[in-house]
Amino acid sequence: MVTARSTPNIALIKYWGNRNNELRLPAADSLSMSLSSPSVEIDVNFADELTIRSFEADGLRKELTDKHIDRFRKHLELTKNFLKTLGAEHAIPAAVSITIRSAIPSAVGLASSAAVFSCLARAYAALIEPVIALTDMQMSVIGRLGSGSAARSIFGGYVALRTGTGNGIASAIAEQIAPEDHWTLHDIVVIPSKEEKKIGSTEGHSLASTSPFFAARVEAIGTRRQQECISAILARDFEKLQKITEEDALDMHHVMETSTPPLHYLTEDTHRIIKAIEELRISEHVPVLYTMDAGPTVHLLCPSESLQRIRTFAQEQKGCTVFETHAGPGAAIV
Ligand code: DP6
Repeated sequence: MVTARSTPNIALIKYWGNRNNELRLPAADSLSMSLSSPSVEIDVNFADELTIRSFEADGLRKELTDKHIDRFRKHLELTKNFLKTLGAEHAIPAAVSITIRSAIPSAVGLASSAAVFSCLARAYAALIEPVIALTDMQMSVIGRLGSGSAARSIFGGYVALRTGTGNGIASAIAEQIAPEDHWTLHDIVVIPSKEEKKIGSTEGHSLASTSPFFAARVEAIGTRRQQECISAILARDFEKLQKITEEDALDMHHVMETSTPPLHYLTEDTHRIIKAIEELRISEHVPVLYTMDAGPTVHLLCPSESLQRIRTFAQEQKGCTVFETHAGPGAAIV
């Protein structure tokens, strides 16, 4: 048996829309910061049949739906297909038993699927190591086959997922841009509502291309945004990072809101928090940026110098839950 641990990541250039939904080949590049917490631990072992047990943050067993189980089954099948392309088709002879222990509070706007599938990819790699030694980039492919953003949580720090070309199973791969100690950015997560989101990312990705603004977004990322974001990170230029990250997050929500059917993830609370942050930046010149994924939660990223001020700001937001984390090391064997 092997055990791995991993965490979610927060995207600075967002992944939204695939060129191949089954293989989760993204339509555009994306870039994220791996988070130091909350974490997920997974035990895996060889088994005759696929079994999955999942435990929540409170230690209670979570009942998995057929849809959940099918996702893991499909992921195992795709992983075997990928291993076949590496000449290691028998590395997982039959199936596996999986035990998930998650410390991620459900529906807080932190992508638990990224943590789970990056963790599982790392664990699978350790399990089959006597047969084949996978590189981190190959593990990112296995992560991506379960959840697109999971490819990025394989690595620590700042990570790019390259869209690549073609429909090959390994054509989109993640790579590290800079390790977590290059720049300690904090993520103060402000959660306005704990309601489960209506439409999950998997369904959302398949609607993205119905927005008339989708093509322009893919183009902007490909020609400019991804590279600008990488440059800002390498130069530790917070102002530049703020501009590009906010532009991309708002653009993604514009695509979501103009797809058919439209997806409205941001709420009045989200807009109120964003507005207050913009005012705070003007009045107090505090370095801080906001970004939102597929939900109303606002991630406030800031360097250490403004952490205390942003912490206070977050605690003042009425009716919101606050969670604090920072740049972290990515998936690892325990
Ligand atoms: C808005 O990776 O969660 O958080 O592959 O269906 O699991 P699946 O999608 P997922 O999509 C992430 C969407 C996002 C942006 C991002 O993290 O890049």
